[in-house]
Parts: sequence; structure tokens; C-alpha cells
Amino acid sequence: MIETKTPHLQGPRIRVEVAEASGFKHIAVKRLTPVIGAEIGGISLADGLDEAQLREVAQAFAEFQVIFFRDQMLDPEQHLSFGRLFGDLHIHPAAPHAPGQPALMVIRADENSPRANGEVWHSDVSCDQHPPLGSILNIKVCPTYGGDTLFASMYAAYDALSDRMKTYLDGLRAIHDGEHVYRGTYANLGVADKPSYPRAEHPVVRRHPVTGRPALFVNRGFTRHIVGLPSDEGDAVLRYLFEHIENPLFQCRFRWQPHSVAFWDNRCVQHRALWDYWPQTRSGFRVTVSGDRPIEYFQ
Ligand code: SIN
Repeated sequence: MIETKTPHLQGPRIRVEVAEASGFKHIAVKRLTPVIGAEIGGISLADGLDEAQLREVAQAFAEFQVIFFRDQMLDPEQHLSFGRLFGDLHIHPAAPHAPGQPALMVIRADENSPRANGEVWHSDVSCDQHPPLGSILNIKVCPTYGGDTLFASMYAAYDALSDRMKTYLDGLRAIHDGEHVYRGTYANLGVADKPSYPRAEHPVVRRHPVTGRPALFVNRGFTRHIVGLPSDEGDAVLRYLFEHIENPLFQCRFRWQPHSVAFWDNRCVQHRALWDYWPQTRSGFRVTVSGDRPIEYFQ
């Protein structure tokens, strides 16, 4: 359970609830910001986790929404095994994977790439009926500088909305579509398009199944429109929410080193990868954990 203290970060209209770190005995935890992100030390993911460590890693994941590990020399099987500790593995509907390993998604941009993964704020594959619970990215090769990833707390984004806006969003649902995101996207890597890509309707505000907290669940990458609103009104609301979500007060920024791992909770976090390192190479693998159908949050 997350305890919250009186909000103490104030912008003109922004109030950010601050999560209180609980005592950890079996892992080392260093918070990155008051609202999101923590670096976890004192464990080797390759060696596997004992029960106490796993419990605390799950607790840190729930509290900090994205957790980071350094110097983890994971082979594919160890990476997949770490993912399976949190649920079944998700197979990406479009992206390339390692040979013979459909759950091991390839993340790579180099001098020949026309694009890099995740350059727009998004929650992974939110167009699925059951969007992924979380994603575990292990970057093995880094540029000498650049290639950071930004993460934003959708709890903080929701909490900072005005009471009027929270009431307006109550019960609204939105369409998330993969078609415009995935069609043709991986052609340069020899991946043939599928006849269709996932599309789903989800609540605009979801209740996190573990913490019970409300989180905004619309994103620039996949969310196309709000159901039942005139399109000009729905578009204006989405534009407002997309800008609101990107406030740096809700974010942390992770600087990768070779063999760093990030594990983010797609149910309450959006992320954006910065492709500022061309023509250098950044590459690694992502294991994605399957999730549930998002549940509506009502105030
Ligand atoms: C992604 O999974 O969206 C890519 C994130 C990254 O490369 O940092």
C-alpha cells in the first residue's frame, strides 16, 4: 500500500502527491525523484531472486512505478526468467524479436535506422485489449552520450488535474489503435505487415489493480479519440491531456550504461525514448509482461 504525504510540490496549478518510501531490508533503494523512479542495488537478476528480494522488488515496483538496475549481465534466458516472475510474457504484435525467442523484442537504432522505438510518449501496446503490465528493457550497447529514456507518472498527472477536470473525465473511454503506429514501421528490418493490428477501448482513467490508485490512461502514441464526444471536443480534451501528462514535474530521466535494466509499469507510467545519438548505436532487448483489461476508476 502506498502512503501519501501532504503534497509539497506546487506549481501554479500543479500539486504532486509524494509517495513515502517504505523500509527495504533485502534490496538497496535510491529514489530518483519525489514522484517516480528508483535505482535498485544489492541484487543480481542473473542469479535469480530469493523470496524476500522478490517481495521487495515487487514492492519497489508498486511504489516507484519504474525501477532501474545497473551492471546486470543478463543472457536471454535470464532476462525472460526475470519477466516470468511477474506474469506470462507478452508477444509484441509487430516488432522484431530475437531468433527463436518471440518474447524477446529487439530494441535497436544505428546509423542505418530510419527511426528508433518509442520516440513518442506512450504506454506500451496500449492498443491491446489486455495491455502489458510492464516492460523490462536491458540495454547492452549504449552511445557515448544521449539515448536517455524519460518516464512520467500517470498517478501524478491524474492527481494534479483540477477537481472539475477529474469529474469531467469520470466514466469516459477512449479508442487506442495500433494501425497507424505499426503498419510499415519495421519494413526496413524485413518484418512483413500483418493484415490488421490491435485496437481497443479503455477507460481514460484506470484504477491500478495493485495500488488502487487512479492513473491517466491516454497517450499520444496510440489514443485516437474519446468515445461519445463530438470529435472537436474529444480532440481538444486529448490535446490538453497529452500536454498535461508531459509536465516535467511528473518525470524522471534515466541515463543508460551498458547492461542497465529498466522495469516500468505500463499501467501507471508513460515513457519516451530520445533518439539524439545518431549515427551511434544503441541496442538491447525488451521482455514484456502481459497485463489485464484496464478497470475504470470512478472518484
Ligand atoms: C520502448 O520500449 O518504447 C523503447 C524504450 C527505449 O528504447 O528506451
